[in-house]
Amino acid sequence: MKVLMINGSTRQNGNTNAVLGVIEGILHAEDIDTEVFWVGNEPIRDCTGCGSCKRTLDDSCIFKDDYINELIGKAREADGFVFGSPVYYSHPTGALLSVLNRVYYSASNVLRGKPGCSFIIARRAGTSLALQVLNQYFLYNEMPLVSGSYWAMLHGAKPEEVFQDEEGMQTIRNMSRNLAHVMKSLKIARESGLVKPKNEYGARTSFIR
Ligand SMILES: Cc1cc2nc3c(=O)[nH]c(=O)nc-3n(C[C@H](O)[C@H](O)[C@H](O)COP(=O)(O)O)c2cc1C
Repeated sequence: MKVLMINGSTRQNGNTNAVLGVIEGILHAEDIDTEVFWVGNEPIRDCTGCGSCKRTLDDSCIFKDDYINELIGKAREADGFVFGSPVYYSHPTGALLSVLNRVYYSASNVLRGKPGCSFIIARRAGTSLALQVLNQYFLYNEMPLVSGSYWAMLHGAKPEEVFQDEEGMQTIRNMSRNLAHVMKSLKIARESGLVKPKNEYGARTSFIR
């Protein structure tokens, strides 16, 4: 089994990456492979809402000039997800939001049903709002949202300063163990023949009168 982890920071080796490293260590000890995908620090297009993916329905984004379709391929192979981001003005980074908007809008099928969790890092504040934004990507898409033992948020500014936040780190370690446990539980359930519910789709009530 494998977890795809997205580093939503524009600093490749900052606090977010340091925490992802801790999560990797715990997952590896549980015999779960990991891959960290960095969103980068170059401009990345947001979803333009062009709707091409809704016509082709091939789980890909029409814009092929960046890494989004490569990332969708990695998500297809993954069994679980971790999204991590610093707070940028009370939100996850713009880069991570652009990436997740495009991946989910064009290829939600490749993520649906797989468990995941997210965490947020801030120097000081804006964490609750930012965490809610990230968690919502799982909740929109029938993805079991795995929790830790408290808020999945850490405080720090300089790289690796987050390690001084012992309560935050404890929560992250527990969340990582819980993710491994949920992934293994779902695997056992699949292997014993449990199938996903046949859910209904297609209703769209836009509240237009
Ligand atoms: C553009 C920008 C906006 C930020 N906004 C906030 C904020 O609203 N609240 C806060 O506490 N920290 C804010 N920060 C600080 C970062 O969240 C903090 O330094 C974090 O540790 C960076 O994580 P990283 O090392 O993974 O990049 C901001 C940083 C940047 C660059």
